Formats: sequence, structure tokens, C-alpha cells
Amino acid sequence: MLNLLAISGSLRAASTNSALVAALALNAPEGCRVTVYDGLGRLPIFNPDDEGERTPGDASDLIDAVTGADGVIVSCPEYAHGVPGGLKNALDWLVSRDVAVGKPAMPVHASPRSLYARAALAEIMRTMSFALYDGGPEIPLLGKKPPEVASILLEPTNQKAMHDALSGFMHFIRTR
Ligand SMILES: Cc1cc2nc3c(=O)[nH]c(=O)nc-3n(C[C@H](O)[C@H](O)[C@H](O)COP(=O)(O)O)c2cc1C
Repeated sequence: MLNLLAISGSLRAASTNSALVAALALNAPEGCRVTVYDGLGRLPIFNPDDEGERTPGDASDLIDAVTGADGVIVSCPEYAHGVPGGLKNALDWLVSRDVAVGKPAMPVHASPRSLYARAALAEIMRTMSFALYDGGPEIPLLGKKPPEVASILLEPTNQKAMHDALSGFMHFIRTR
């Protein structure tokens, strides 16, 4: 069984990125379990002085969750041509340890735009030595309200796209 940790970079209640990671969890192929991380909004702002024995509990929980996962999925919006601060903050808590090194990661995006955030997220995660898999599903949800998002994510072609992307990611993890 492969355990994947999915992180949405949006704290918005009606977030399309959060809906996408939740749908990925529901469409996980056999042999794969996707757990959605829900602690992003509780993380204190990263401070290198608070590492080691002073690491805050919520940051330790994130570090443990990433350490215990066979791979991570990150879905994020673009804010002002960048990666949302909350997501960057979470990633910053992982930088000065081994947890990200060689950890398989699949970035996904609910917006067909967000080209700056895609590039920035890939650059950040590559710099942290994540092993990036770029076969994430492309399901445009930008600007859609929750009922429409839900029905798009239930369309069989999109369920297959999520299932196939996860199968590809599982293969990537197993053959590295
Ligand atoms: C403060 C703010 C800044 C944004 N800046 C951009 C941007 O620079 N480029 C872009 O494509 N979309 C931008 N957007 C749109 C969001 O990326 C888009 O609404 C996205 O779907 C939000 O993700 P969510 O549904 O998961 O919350 C911005 C949205 C907000 C709230």
C-alpha cells in the first residue's frame, strides 16, 4: 500500500484546489491511499530559530506526515503571480531537514492559468530536492462554484484522469 499525502495551498472554504485533492483521494487506485493534510492554517510562520527541539507541534506534525508518506501531492492557486504564502510557509518548515530529499511529489493545479505559480512551485520543490512527477491531472476548475466543481469532478472522464494520474505517480514512486 502506498501512502500519499495531499496538500492544498488554499485555505478558502470553497477552494477548487482543496476540492481537487479531496477528489483525488476518492479516486485513488487500488494499492494507494491519499490522506489530505488539513493543518496548513495552523502552522506558525517559519522561523529558523524555532527548529530542532523548539519545533512547534503543528510543524512537527507536518514534518512527520511528509516523512511517513511515500509521496506528496501539492495543489495550489496563484496569488499575485506567486505561490500562496501559507503553502510556501509549510514548505519552509521542511527545508533544513532530509524529509524532502528524494521524496516523490506530484504538483497539481485546479486553474489552467497560474503559470507563474506552477513554475515557482516546481522551482521551490526542485531546490528542496523533491523528485517531481509532472503527470498531474489537468481539470480546470477556476472560477467555478462548489456545486459545479463537484459535478465536474464526478464526470467519468475526469475521474479517469485522476485515477490515471495517480497510477502514473504510483509507478513513478515504485520504479525510482
Ligand atoms: C489575492 C489573489 C490573487 C490572485 N492572483 C492571481 C494571479 O496572479 N494569477 C492567476 O492566474 N490567478 C490569480 N488569482 C486567482 C486564483 O488563483 C484563483 O481564484 C484560484 O482558483 C483560487 O484557488 P482556490 O479555488 O483553491 O482558492 C488570485 C486570487 C486571489 C484571491
